Amino acid sequence: MKRKTLYSLLTSHKKNIFFGIIGLTMVDMMQLLVPILVGKVIDILASSKTDNFFLSDLNKYAFYLIICGVVMAIFRFVWRFFLLGTSRKIEKNLRDNYFSRVQNLTGASFQNHSPGDLMARGVNDIETIKMACGFGIVVAYDGIVLLTFIFISMFLISPIFTLYASGPFIIMSILIIKYGDIIERLFSNVQSSFSNLTEEARRIIYSIRVIKSLNDQEEQSNLFKKKSIHYESMNINLIKIWAGYQPLITFLSGLSIFIFIFFGSNMVLEGKLSIGDFSALMVYLTMLSWPVVAMGLAVDWLKRGNACLSRVDKIMTQDTEANEVGLARIEEIDKVSFDNVSFTKDSNNILSNINFNIKRGSSLGITGKTGAGKTTLINLLLKYSYSDNIKINNISINDIDKNSIRKKIVYVPQNPVIFSGTLAENVSFFEENPDENKIIECLRISGFINDLERMKNGLNEIVGERGVSLSGGQRQRVSIARAIYQNPEMIILDDTLSSLDVDTELQILRNIKDTFREKFLIVISSRVSTIFLFDEIIVLDSGEIVQKGSSKLLEEQEGLFKDLLAIQRILPGAIDAK
Ligand SMILES: Nc1ncnc2c1ncn2[C@@H]1O[C@H](COP(=O)(O)OP(=O)(O)OP(=O)(O)O)[C@@H](O)[C@H]1O
Ligand SMILES: [Mg+2]
Repeated sequence: MKRKTLYSLLTSHKKNIFFGIIGLTMVDMMQLLVPILVGKVIDILASSKTDNFFLSDLNKYAFYLIICGVVMAIFRFVWRFFLLGTSRKIEKNLRDNYFSRVQNLTGASFQNHSPGDLMARGVNDIETIKMACGFGIVVAYDGIVLLTFIFISMFLISPIFTLYASGPFIIMSILIIKYGDIIERLFSNVQSSFSNLTEEARRIIYSIRVIKSLNDQEEQSNLFKKKSIHYESMNINLIKIWAGYQPLITFLSGLSIFIFIFFGSNMVLEGKLSIGDFSALMVYLTMLSWPVVAMGLAVDWLKRGNACLSRVDKIMTQDTEANEVGLARIEEIDKVSFDNVSFTKDSNNILSNINFNIKRGSSLGITGKTGAGKTTLINLLLKYSYSDNIKINNISINDIDKNSIRKKIVYVPQNPVIFSGTLAENVSFFEENPDENKIIECLRISGFINDLERMKNGLNEIVGERGVSLSGGQRQRVSIARAIYQNPEMIILDDTLSSLDVDTELQILRNIKDTFREKFLIVISSRVSTIFLFDEIIVLDSGEIVQKGSSKLLEEQEGLFKDLLAIQRILPGAIDAK
């Protein structure tokens, strides 16, 4: 992808920028006219014209000055509307694109960037880019136009004097360019330190329960303080540069006025310069301080914007999941087959020679020790990792759109995610017009109905950030209800019932089996009892299927299933309860 620049962001809004620049130019022209009018008034005052003539001319110039004020007010509105409005549009587009890119990042890209870092880039950096595209452009243009026209106007009045006064401005231009590079580098450091600080805050808030249980608040506060001190020192480095930069520019600007008074007053005394021209030049020189400061600000904002754009662009060029165009979509699933599937990660064999079929109307249980590859197997089916030889309805999943697979095969992960919001929002997944009866039915299937009756606000109960007000088992059941609400063809529960007691687990499994009796059900569990009555069971060990068949068959075979069963039978009532 081509690297984005501030220029490329602006050129997609050419029309608005054009109108904005016209507005800004008009305001600048009016500003430049004011000293000329003031000079005229002073010359009239200094001359010995008749009272009548003098009065009528003063009225004329006063009227011109009022017109200038009115025109300035109108065009100030015009440039603000077009230029600052455009910067808001750029900010919105950038943020929308950034957000959708972040949503599609691959797992590996997420590993390289913490959520805090992604948040900082998406909020703070884009805000700075907006400033660069808005006020940054305004001050840059204003600075250049005013500087040029003030110098031309001064040159027309007195070329010699203009040459004397411009010496300090050449020094200033060199300084501005030099400082710009330093500012870009230092600001980049500030932003990356801010990313770290945001991530640290997120990490601490996210794990506050663990921190409290380990009574580790003081240590965590110190860790946060370290990041905070780093952020402060990065800012101070930047401020040091600024602190020297601004006074230097003001000093050089003052030096020009000093040169002017020194030479200009002599020129007036020698009769080479009228008092009116002297006053006009004086006004121009005082006016010069703004464009010079503006140029400094422009360099600062544009360099900051550039640094931030590079940081945002870094995310925009990270790997995302493949953009699938024109692939098949699935509606109904008849069959899923794994045909000699293997998966290697960082030269480790995670899965080897996996073979199995699952047909509509059947249930599959997957068991095995921790780390055997159970979750990885599902990740392949859902196209989170690439794999050959997996087929749905005899079509390779590589020829099927990933979103259509994930819509029809709903996976409930090991660690259920609960969003801050109401119970209803969590089940309907923030659907705009959720079906309340359907939500209740899903909660019934997932065994949550008794819990719901105990909730003061029913479906509108706020379940808090990450479900802090729910028990572990409740969180699991709400996430199962969410999956059922999607009305999928296949539901996959990955150790999702582990926090429940055996009776509750059995009841929920019955409900789910009944709901999915004409569809597909896959349950992963290291607890053999959970999948004991399933049509087919797969036993995984170190990435290989070591046993396959019904529980009746596996119970009689020597092997891992029998071993696991023997260990788990010791758990009171585990299998007998079934
Ligand atoms: N993104 C990854 N990068 C590298 N290795 C991984 C990755 N994900 C999983 N693994 C490795 O693959 C193996 C299988 O992991 P997997 O999560 O599939 O196991 P599991 O059977 O689901 O275990 P558990 O019962 O504990 O959930 C493990 O050794 C794990 O360390
Ligand atoms: Mg797992």
